[in-house]
Amino acid sequence: MNLKPVAMSTSLFLLLVLSAVATASATTIGVTYIQSSTQPPPEQVAATLRSLKITAVRLPVPEPSVIRTFFYTNISLFLSIPNNLLHSIAANRSAASLWLYTHVVPFYPRALITTISVGSNVLDGDPSSGNGDILLGAVRNVHRSLIDLGIRKITVSTTFSYVNIMMTSFPPSSAEFEEPINNHTLKPLLQFLSETNSSFFVNLYPYFVYKLRPEIPIGFALFQQQPYNFRDDAITGVRYRNLFDLMVDAVIAALTISGHEDIPVVVTETGWPSYGSSNELEAHPIYAEMYLNGLVCHLRSGRGTPLRKEGVAEAYIYEVFDTNTSFTNQAVMRVGTGQRWGFLHPNMSMKFKIDFSGGFSTNGMPARVVLGLLSLVFGLLI
Ligand SMILES: *[C@@H]1O[C@H](CO)[C@@H](O)[C@H](O)[C@H]1NC(C)=O
Ligand SMILES: *[C@@H]1O[C@H](CO)[C@@H](O)[C@H](O)[C@H]1NC(C)=O
Ligand SMILES: *[C@@H]1O[C@H](CO)[C@@H](O)[C@H](O)[C@H]1NC(C)=O
Ligand SMILES: *[C@@H]1O[C@H](CO)[C@@H](O)[C@H](O)[C@H]1NC(C)=O
Ligand SMILES: *[C@@H]1O[C@H](CO)[C@@H](O)[C@H](O)[C@H]1NC(C)=O
Ligand SMILES: *[C@@H]1O[C@H](CO)[C@@H](O)[C@H](O)[C@H]1NC(C)=O
Repeated sequence: MNLKPVAMSTSLFLLLVLSAVATASATTIGVTYIQSSTQPPPEQVAATLRSLKITAVRLPVPEPSVIRTFFYTNISLFLSIPNNLLHSIAANRSAASLWLYTHVVPFYPRALITTISVGSNVLDGDPSSGNGDILLGAVRNVHRSLIDLGIRKITVSTTFSYVNIMMTSFPPSSAEFEEPINNHTLKPLLQFLSETNSSFFVNLYPYFVYKLRPEIPIGFALFQQQPYNFRDDAITGVRYRNLFDLMVDAVIAALTISGHEDIPVVVTETGWPSYGSSNELEAHPIYAEMYLNGLVCHLRSGRGTPLRKEGVAEAYIYEVFDTNTSFTNQAVMRVGTGQRWGFLHPNMSMKFKIDFSGGFSTNGMPARVVLGLLSLVFGLLI
């Protein structure tokens, strides 16, 4: 009888479901791994990360022996060049080639190196010291050396720390980069990133902003959905339900003011400490678990941020094991030191549960619900 409208409405429904699938976020969720002799050997760590379904790893200290353990794992690698090499790399392109010949050429593409950060938090300290020119020169030389080697698929950029580059973060729509870093360094760098289709890398810790701003409710920093956990941006009329999105949008607004609203943003470090000094009551495993699960769930939901519907391109959780990292930014100096950020114990059991696998989900709908709906639709069509 009159089957046509039914078929049409079901195929419309199918289309809607499929487009919901297609717009699900492409945010890659990775982890930061720093090798140390007090932990299991890298081979075991790589196997554990695979079993946790982690698809991207950031290596701030990319020892060749560690890179090698990721051969044929299909885990993408983000490598950082240490700050103490930047002077020579900026001055002499063969220093860039030398680094690439020891850290990339022997491994690529068996190890899926996708990204290189030329230095991290280079502008800490005195921003007018001329470090900006050295940084730009070094980034350009690494990029050119890769092209000379015929490698075009590795993204080259440098990593900043949110607290060191942002002048204000609220309201996010009015955020701008700090001067004189903006004028001296960011403007020419952003031009380079646009020309080379690269991304903006930023270490972004809601924990430190929360510690510096007592008026922020902890639930807002921890992705807890509660009626009073929000901040409105009066200029855009946008409501923020978590501090992470607010900080990401501050970066995006600052990029936009600089004329580069299309540059993808990669959150190179984020996390929450499970232990800290005596004035850090919130450095606790319960809060660390809430933050990391809230983060993973939020990034998987595909909702993006109010100013960028695709959200951040990648986000790397800091970190796999507790390490004695000394953060060199002022927020940490004021907040405390000696925090523990790792989510694995040295015996590789998880300190608390985080589900990295997630599968794909659409607007918070678990994959099996979507699959269920799809089979229902196919059932109706047959
Ligand atoms: C490798 O990883 C990518 C993205 O994580 C995925 O799309 C692809 O299917 C994987 N390939 C294999 C052979 O596992
Ligand atoms: C450039 O670096 C290479 C390799 O590190 C070195 O052999 C060469 O002498 C350097 N050139 C200059 C001008 O510093
Ligand atoms: C930025 O640089 C330009 C040209 O070098 C200069 O005229 C301007 O005053 C600078 N702005 C700030 C805020 O430093
Ligand atoms: C950047 O991406 C655009 C669009 O995908 C492409 O046309 C262009 O060739 C790319 N540029 C470089 C330098 O890779
Ligand atoms: C950090 O350093 C201290 C003292 O140097 C040491 O006792 C501790 O085991 C180290 N912690 C880790 C996780 O490496
Ligand atoms: C791993 O180490 C943690 C912390 O020392 C401990 O609580 C846990 O029971 C250990 N797990 C296993 C399987 O040994």
